Amino acid sequence: MRKIAAGNWKMNGTKASLEEIRALIGAHPAPGCEMLICPPATLIAAAAEAANGSALTIGGQDCHAAASGAHTGDISAAMLADAGASYVILGHSERRADHGETDAQIAARALAARAAGLTAVICLGETEAERDAGRTLDVIGAQLAGSLPEGADAANTVVAYEPVWAIGTGRTPGLEQIAEVHDFLRARLIERFGAGAREMRLLYGGSVKASNAGEIFAVANVDGALVGGASLKAADFGAIVAAL
Ligand code: G3P
Repeated sequence: MRKIAAGNWKMNGTKASLEEIRALIGAHPAPGCEMLICPPATLIAAAAEAANGSALTIGGQDCHAAASGAHTGDISAAMLADAGASYVILGHSERRADHGETDAQIAARALAARAAGLTAVICLGETEAERDAGRTLDVIGAQLAGSLPEGADAANTVVAYEPVWAIGTGRTPGLEQIAEVHDFLRARLIERFGAGAREMRLLYGGSVKASNAGEIFAVANVDGALVGGASLKAADFGAIVAAL
């Protein structure tokens, strides 16, 4: 299985940040592994051009469900592909919170991404209150059922488990807590999509850095990471890629 180190730059980065992309091109993921950076939309075309021919792939951070039309400020999956993206993050908890995105909207965007030839990185995760209430698996299970459209497979879909309380906080779940959720996700995916879902990549996200990446990648059913803050600098992200 191709493990992935994926970086989500969120709303960070200007043209000067392309320097980090150029520096990352020098990082070499282990054979069979992949590195992905999802910069803001303004940088996708330039980043894809800079990364062309290297092991680094580029993705978007969201797309609209429609192919085109009167949707001011939105970007279609085809536009992302045209700019050189091959992945798109969907349903990140910041978008679910800031823009009220629902599971059904995320599933519709995933279908649009598939139609444009993009692989969707579909995010899900519980809040701290939900974990404290013992509802983690219920919440994750519902998000998984609602956000993944029919026909999801290992080529068109990656799932990222990002506990909301671990994002940007420096706190991570215990390895056994990560294992519990990833085992659960794998079982649910196989139940719904069949044995092929054994190959679907399941990423962990939330305060991943060079110092904890190795132990997290060693957890069963963890096929890489979705990294925020530590993906902004090539040196930090390169060290995570090296831990794959
Ligand atoms: O999508 C990645 C993200 O939400 C995790 O952010 O900064 O905790 O690595 P961070």
